[in-house]
Amino acid sequence: MSVTAKTSRAAVYNDKVVRQFAIMTVIWGVVGMLVGVIIASQLAWPELTQGIEWLSYGRLRPLHTSAVVFAFGGSGLIATSYYVVQRTCQTRLISDKLAAFTFWGWNLIIVLVVITYPMGLTQSREYAEMIWPIDLLIAVVWVAYAIVFFGTVGIRKVRHIYVANWFYGAFIIAVALLHIFNNIQLPTSLTHSYSAYAGVQDAMVQWWYGHNAVGFFLTAGFLGMMYYFIPKQAERPVYSYRLSIVHFWALIFTYMWAGPHHLHYTALPDWTQSIGMVFSLILLAPSWGGMINGIMTLSGAWHKLRDDPILRFLIVSLSFYGMSTFEGPMMSIKTVNALSHYTDWTVGHVHSGALGWVGLVTMGSMYYLIPRLFGQKKMYSVPAIEIHFWVATIGIVLYIASMWIAGVMQGLMWRSVNPDGSLTYTFVESVKATFPFYVIRLLGGFLYLGGMCIMLWNVIKTAAQGRIEDVRIPALNPAHA
Ligand code: HEM
Ligand code: HEM
Repeated sequence: MSVTAKTSRAAVYNDKVVRQFAIMTVIWGVVGMLVGVIIASQLAWPELTQGIEWLSYGRLRPLHTSAVVFAFGGSGLIATSYYVVQRTCQTRLISDKLAAFTFWGWNLIIVLVVITYPMGLTQSREYAEMIWPIDLLIAVVWVAYAIVFFGTVGIRKVRHIYVANWFYGAFIIAVALLHIFNNIQLPTSLTHSYSAYAGVQDAMVQWWYGHNAVGFFLTAGFLGMMYYFIPKQAERPVYSYRLSIVHFWALIFTYMWAGPHHLHYTALPDWTQSIGMVFSLILLAPSWGGMINGIMTLSGAWHKLRDDPILRFLIVSLSFYGMSTFEGPMMSIKTVNALSHYTDWTVGHVHSGALGWVGLVTMGSMYYLIPRLFGQKKMYSVPAIEIHFWVATIGIVLYIASMWIAGVMQGLMWRSVNPDGSLTYTFVESVKATFPFYVIRLLGGFLYLGGMCIMLWNVIKTAAQGRIEDVRIPALNPAHA
């Protein structure tokens, strides 16, 4: 059925833009993880890319982080936020044109990143490497996204604003703030600029941004996903609505102050480092509150985990969330950080959050969403979802366990001294000792990427057999759709 008249369009959801973002989530996931596998191979075999500068590690690494965080994660967040805000507000997106603009604009940004990073055009700010013209484009697209999201909340038909929207909303506002303040810069040419900040202030602004990119991009937005898709898939209400509100305010207040834990033992004033450490320790409480709220939503429905692979993706993602938000506060303790910083322990921590939490919750939500977006009851192949789950989980375990062992080993080797005060090991000895762990990590990465390829195949098959039809907005019903 095609709906053309404006009035009848208002009676159905805008799922076109959700479909577009959802498909791109899967495609960018494959691309970003493939680059991850390439750089993991380069760390094991540095000569792999024959000195070709466009393929050098230094240029591909930021391509990997941007592709997985902003292209894969970002598309997943925008897709689900557009879906969730419409269902929970029982209204169509406020503007189809602006929503379409966010889709094309976001993907143009990603394509520009894919072109400029291998050319070596960078600001050298981690997770914010884009040169200033791309930064401007991001600001414009993000403002459009904010207008679509908050505009839709503004025209909602239900009085209540469901908690998932609070998390998506905080993510949108915080990312706008972070992006703008971290990127205040003075352009000197089309491709080069100087930061407005200098020295240690520059470092602090960068890690205020960097840490809150974790807190708001990689956490708050995905918690929005968690609060909608777990209750939906489990067919159970959220365990405690009161806890979700406490969780929300405590989390967003605390995250903002934890950035200095990235700058322990640097020129940053000591008291600032201590504030970062204390707030990181406090952060354990709201993080675990959220995890418990998600997992306990399954109360009375635990048996569903046995034969519902989608629910397994969602619930296991929360276990990894709990693990990485326990590990993070521990790593922020200065004496622990003295061992972990600069080592692969950090990389293990990052990927237990990234592969385990961000990756699995996104995949679970997409498996819920994609059949519905193509008029189907379920994905083309449910056994393929099952295989994906196990391949990905084994991949994560290989990745993070190898990095933890390598990291602690590196830290211990670097600090080991002989009785005469000289170092026991040279740096190169620690690199040689790390080699087998890099190979195991690569194997884990291959498995995780393999799972994502299975997902892509399953999505293509589902889309091919499905049909695109408009979904009517139910007649005013105060319960959540
Ligand atoms: C096939 C899967 C993946 C592989 C093989 C992989 C591999 C890698 C490698 C080799 C690095 C560089 C580590 C270093 O500098 O020593 C890295 C960094 C990073 N990756 Fe991945 N990755 C994968 C998936 C992901 C995903 C899905 C995300 C996020 C959602 C992610 C986020 C990051 C981040 C944030 C960093 C920077 C870490 C830091 O600076 O400490 N990765 N990855
Ligand atoms: C309570 C929550 C968390 C705390 C307190 C925390 C704390 C930390 C600490 C102390 C570091 C090491 C800093 C260093 O030595 O340089 C770190 C690194 C990192 N964490 Fe977490 N973490 C938390 C949760 C997470 C989650 C859930 C994710 C991912 C989804 C994540 C992603 C990262 C990334 C990407 C880095 C590396 C940054 C870089 O150096 O490039 N963290 N975190």
